[in-house]
Amino acid sequence: MNTTFPRRRRSLTEKFAGLEIDALLVTHPADWYYLTGFTGESGALIVSQRATTLITDGRFVGQAKRETAGVNVALQKGSVFESTGEFLRASKIQTIGFDATQLTVAQMSGVRKAAGRGCRWKPAQGVVAGVRMRKDAQELAVMRRAAILAGQVVEHALTLLKTGVREFEIAAEIEYQMRRRGASGAAFETIVAFGERAALPHARPTAKRLKKNELVVLDLGAILAHYCSDITRTIYFGKAPERIRQWYKAVQDAQVAAIAAVKNGVPCGDVDAAARQVLVSHGLDKHFVHSTGHGLGLEVHEDPRIARGQKKHLEPGNVVTIEPGIYIEDVGGIRIEDDVAVHEERIEVL
Ligand code: GLY
Ligand code: MN
Repeated sequence: MNTTFPRRRRSLTEKFAGLEIDALLVTHPADWYYLTGFTGESGALIVSQRATTLITDGRFVGQAKRETAGVNVALQKGSVFESTGEFLRASKIQTIGFDATQLTVAQMSGVRKAAGRGCRWKPAQGVVAGVRMRKDAQELAVMRRAAILAGQVVEHALTLLKTGVREFEIAAEIEYQMRRRGASGAAFETIVAFGERAALPHARPTAKRLKKNELVVLDLGAILAHYCSDITRTIYFGKAPERIRQWYKAVQDAQVAAIAAVKNGVPCGDVDAAARQVLVSHGLDKHFVHSTGHGLGLEVHEDPRIARGQKKHLEPGNVVTIEPGIYIEDVGGIRIEDDVAVHEERIEVL
């Protein structure tokens, strides 16, 4: 019997007394997967100390029964939010936590109306996200494989860089190679940016053809056994002029400094500052237009955020990206990104 999901639900319900809730409504698919193993796209999960109930539609009931254990699976009647409200009314749950960032106004008003006046609603934001931040050994093992797979795909993509090749051809090859190597797909739309298009941090692949003496940014991630990787490499196609070499070295030094700052107990804002400080010393900080990194796991962007002023302290089991970059209009951009796991006494670049 798989003990992972019940253990995760226990870690969650242990927080309920402190939050002053009897149950939590979970409506985000990555969260309900984390707690139950259910991979369907539609539903609502109610977790209480006593029971876990998943309400879903006819497409997913059989699947939910197969994928979960210790979860009551119920078929929705009408909308999932009406059914959830009716379930709450019948089960006499008094105080239910909800995450306002995961529910629309219409969903909230529907579920409240169906639940009736006996049910008190209490905002409880990011509660599952907080548990998800601490990955266990099993999750880290999968994430290690997802990162290695992404690295292998980068190596393959480098062999395809030829004069005249188009950005979208490289992106298509990258995503094909991920799947060939066992990924269920790309963790986000693959970024392939040539020349001055590399100045866009989130460039979408276009029909632009590669020319000699251009920067190339490749930012890609694979989903392997539900977990994401996210890495970026920047190369110069040709012989890089001195100015580009200096910029590259500055970004690389910023990344090395930020990785060196990653440590159990360190505030996330300090890691961001370590990268930023290196770019300040090169007079390049105004070109670093995003944060240093983000948490990674079942989703490509999750907690904790590695950004200016973030007070949250890193903990064992956190996995974060470290991805400083600089973007210079009409010239190009340089970003280097790796995935870093925090352990008790050390860190690990996945
Ligand atoms: N690698 C894409 C992103 O982090 O937004
Ligand atoms: Mn990233």
